[in-house]
Amino acid sequence: MSGASLLFEDGCKFIINNMRVMKFLVEAQEIRGQCLEGETLLSLALRLKLPLHHSCGGMGTCGTCRVVVREGLEQLPSPGEVEQEMIQDRGFSKIERLACQLEPIEGLIVEIPTSSF
Ligand code: FES
Repeated sequence: MSGASLLFEDGCKFIINNMRVMKFLVEAQEIRGQCLEGETLLSLALRLKLPLHHSCGGMGTCGTCRVVVREGLEQLPSPGEVEQEMIQDRGFSKIERLACQLEPIEGLIVEIPTSSF
């Protein structure tokens, strides 16, 4: 497998084949992140130490990792069954998604709502 690799202090090694860069909006700040292989939007946010609740640990059952998609919504895959159920239960708007159920894509911009802090 070709590509760069990153080794973290805890021993985790990530292979980077397809660098995807996206942005998080946190209050008035823009935070740029480079997605690693296998990361979800939630795991990228946590690696960047951003304030994003995740009560169920990324299982798609708590709804606390809700983010607002500001750019790139049309390029995201449709919500899967677990996410769709949460969207309906919680009455998400069309631009709200679960960070734990999404893989970041190049150019994506998502806002972390202040209710997540
Ligand atoms: S972390 Fe619970 S739904 Fe995403």
